[in-house]
Amino acid sequence: MRSTVEALLAPGKGLLAADESLKTIGKRFEALGIACTEESRRNYRAMLITTPTLPEHISGVILYDETLRQKVGDALIPDVLSRSGVIPGIKVDKGTVALPSLPGEKVTEGLDGLRERLAEYWRLGARFTKWRAVIAVSAQLPSRACIDANTQALARFAALCQEASLVPIIEPEVLMDGNHTLQRCEEVTTRVLSNLFDHLSEYQVSLEKMILKTGMVLPGRDSPDTAPDWEVAEGTLRCLRRSVPSAVPGIVFLSGGQSSVAATARLNAICAMGRAPWTLSFSFGRALQNDAMAAWRGLAANVPAAQDALRHRTECNGLAVQGKYSSQIERASPLD
Ligand code: 13P
Repeated sequence: MRSTVEALLAPGKGLLAADESLKTIGKRFEALGIACTEESRRNYRAMLITTPTLPEHISGVILYDETLRQKVGDALIPDVLSRSGVIPGIKVDKGTVALPSLPGEKVTEGLDGLRERLAEYWRLGARFTKWRAVIAVSAQLPSRACIDANTQALARFAALCQEASLVPIIEPEVLMDGNHTLQRCEEVTTRVLSNLFDHLSEYQVSLEKMILKTGMVLPGRDSPDTAPDWEVAEGTLRCLRRSVPSAVPGIVFLSGGQSSVAATARLNAICAMGRAPWTLSFSFGRALQNDAMAAWRGLAANVPAAQDALRHRTECNGLAVQGKYSSQIERASPLD
């Protein structure tokens, strides 16, 4: 597990999250007029993972259960990745359900039978896992019950993964939805992470053999506030320093619905600020894939353009983790 952690956190590299559930990928395909079938999902994920330059800036790819069993030619997708030096990972949670009596709050399910599923995922080639919890923010939310339910599930997931020699990526996502301020996001994220590490300690999760995946500290999507990148970086680093033990080897950021360019610019500001005891990197889904999916649109003829769009975003984020990104290398997006 230590060598997997080290390889995932290799300098100048980050993770590609390509683990959208059937429902989520369906919505994203539909918005672009792409039919959502097992075949189209396979073709799309095959396009992403066979991008020739992928291993230059991507150390691991988080896959969905279906993809882990699909093939490119005769080879299983996890084997295609491992052969190119990219570590295959797997999302193991089963999505969220509404918490009873707590309107607007959710808990992530998937612990039942997880020990058996993990053994199978190891056999299929996965070497790391991901579990995502979501925390909604408002003046009243989150409730203590919602935080506890989610962080306890994350701790049990992590302990089970380490038992199976799989590195857990532990993801409590504080959602951007709402009109809250950056300060409120910071307060909630600090509370959630502190609570998470209490539970990880109770479950004796080895901090050295995990990776934390979290959001940046940002104003809510509908907030009138616009925070400059340096303010996001300061708030994010202050929050993490107050709540994440330095024994944790790495923290990777999700993009959470930010534009691709904004996510890269803020990642760059965070990494350039430095003075962090952990390796900082990215584990973006939409901020890496949006342009590639829009360029692809379900057509084999568009694969080179789509792979070029992915190459460009991985290169920008590879520079950002070194604090060396400049918006001057940006170009028109297929979504513009
Ligand atoms: P986004 O970067 O699109 O938020 O996705 C990351 C992820 O893996 C969410 O679980």
